Amino acid sequence: MSNYHIKHFEEYFQVYRKSVRNPEMFWEEIAEEHFAWRKKWDQVLSWDFTKPEIKWFEGAQLNITENCLDRHLRTKGDKTAILFEPNDPRDPAEHISYKELHERVCKFANVLKQNGIGKGDRVCIYLPMIPELAISVLACARIGAVHSVVFAGFSSAALSTRINDCDAKLVLTSDGSYRGSKTIDLKGIVDEALTDCPRVETVLVAKRINSEIIMVEGRDRWLQPLLDQSSSDCAPEIMEAEDPLFILYTSGSTGMPKGMLHTTAGYMVYTAYTFKNVFQYKQDDVYWCTADIGWITGHSYIVYGPLLNGATTLMFEGVPSYPDFGRFWEIIQKHQVNQFYTAPTAIRALAKHGTELVDKYDLSSLKVLGSVGEPINEEAWHWYNDNVGKKRSPIVDTWWQTETGGIMITPIPFSTPTKPTYATLPFIGIQPSLMDENGQEIKGNQVSGRLCIKFPWPSIARTIWGNHQRYKDTYFSAFTNKYFTGDGALRDEVGYYRITGRVDDVIIVSGHNLGTAPIEDAINEHPAVAESAIVGFPHDIKGSALYGYITLKDTGEGRDHNNVRKEINQLITERIGPIAKLDKIQFTPGLPKTRSGKIMRRILRKIASNDTSNLGDTSTLLNPEVVEEIMENVL
Ligand code: WTA
Repeated sequence: MSNYHIKHFEEYFQVYRKSVRNPEMFWEEIAEEHFAWRKKWDQVLSWDFTKPEIKWFEGAQLNITENCLDRHLRTKGDKTAILFEPNDPRDPAEHISYKELHERVCKFANVLKQNGIGKGDRVCIYLPMIPELAISVLACARIGAVHSVVFAGFSSAALSTRINDCDAKLVLTSDGSYRGSKTIDLKGIVDEALTDCPRVETVLVAKRINSEIIMVEGRDRWLQPLLDQSSSDCAPEIMEAEDPLFILYTSGSTGMPKGMLHTTAGYMVYTAYTFKNVFQYKQDDVYWCTADIGWITGHSYIVYGPLLNGATTLMFEGVPSYPDFGRFWEIIQKHQVNQFYTAPTAIRALAKHGTELVDKYDLSSLKVLGSVGEPINEEAWHWYNDNVGKKRSPIVDTWWQTETGGIMITPIPFSTPTKPTYATLPFIGIQPSLMDENGQEIKGNQVSGRLCIKFPWPSIARTIWGNHQRYKDTYFSAFTNKYFTGDGALRDEVGYYRITGRVDDVIIVSGHNLGTAPIEDAINEHPAVAESAIVGFPHDIKGSALYGYITLKDTGEGRDHNNVRKEINQLITERIGPIAKLDKIQFTPGLPKTRSGKIMRRILRKIASNDTSNLGDTSTLLNPEVVEEIMENVL
């Protein structure tokens, strides 16, 4: 029996049992049957969570793009691989077949080579959601270069930090991007970022909005003429299983963003296998994930997972609100989308506009609905289920992380009975455990704790680029011999998991992970600010929004507080990006601290969330009077 495609609930249990009883044998079988290898592995798995060191399929040789492209050419050459839907609905959609995608990736790969990029070099990609983004990702993989995509909503400062951290010598960007009715000057942002990046030698620029931009002589080159002259013949670089595939940055609770490093073979096997089963993709289906390729969801479930399965993956350039809030539904109708994967924040934003715009379109092609990025609240779940899925399409609430590479806890549609707000059961091969604060595993059902994973899975990130110690400290030190996710979860009476949210200082705003420390650093740069603390509070659409408690020097008297508020948000926009702006700013005479000087965020969180009936233990507070004052003036 092939275990590649799970079709019913009993089969899930059977395969799950097999995958945890003998993981090596299980994954070997999956890898053996469904991928093209240049050389098979010597060892399926070796691991040690104390070092930590994890290796899958060691000794194997392959190229992931050969699996995404070449091997489909014979049977699916003319099938649409990427279906590009542009920002403006009046512009035609573009159907890129597997044959054409293969050709364009090869050409792009040759351009990279001609510009001095080879195996192991890092390439930073700062592009909007246009085909060149997916193509450049694959072109890097074709020649063994390590791609590091930076979401094109990040500021120049955030971009330069990431370029320098991974030491990229080439940057890909465009003359600008469309975002609804607006355009964004991406090239200008890159130019500013590069004033701090002395090691970048080349910038290749795609033309998208035809704006006037400055091309720096000797550094910047237009992409299209280079592609036109380049050969479409590019043999794949043969990679070792554990060779780096990409770096993707994610926010930590403190300090620099973490450059999560994913490697080749394990990532390939796991993203392909999860895609097939979580979306129950069948030949001729049209699959659409609304994420940006700048996030892990786009890497694994717009590019790699779908293409590894020979799927048609829709790539949307625009936003859900342009030209109106019916755009998603219009696209589903237009392209007869079968699987639709989006974030709770988008669902909430669209639900706010009522059902009229949804009802206008024929959504009967939909078979499976997905949710990702943050807990989905009950109201949003039902709205999605009733109005989009018409109670016919199962919702897969998929829990996972940049670090996990692929989906970890999820229903399998048409197999696992769903339950609103529950990610339900671990995917095949995943062994979750809930831990208490003393490091003990909590067994049994109807319990809650910190979510850990006990055993490696093929697509776990292997390290933090340039900082293995931080990788160890962040993920493998809180609980012995376990990967700690940073999330809290509960397990209900039948063993279903519900993710309750972060237990660290990461706040998820509209599905974007934000660390409080870099935001506070940005705020503290303001000359009038003495100190600040950021917490999350519940928000109707964003899930969580940011609340800033800010203490000004000299109590700020005589200053226009509204101006300071604006300046602070401006600083945050420059240092991180507009996604990290504060919704509420309260000026306070001080921040509640413990006797050892630590800010008591727990209290600030409760106040911001209007949950002050029980503030918990305040006996260790150095300055209880500040808490009173803050509560009186809460926004
Ligand atoms: C949260 C996104 C509840 C969680 C793929 C996790 C979720 C963080 C869910 C990772 C979900 C993601 N239910 N919470 N279905 N999916 N999260 O790295 O806190 O951008 O740790 O990866 O998002 O976010 P990241």
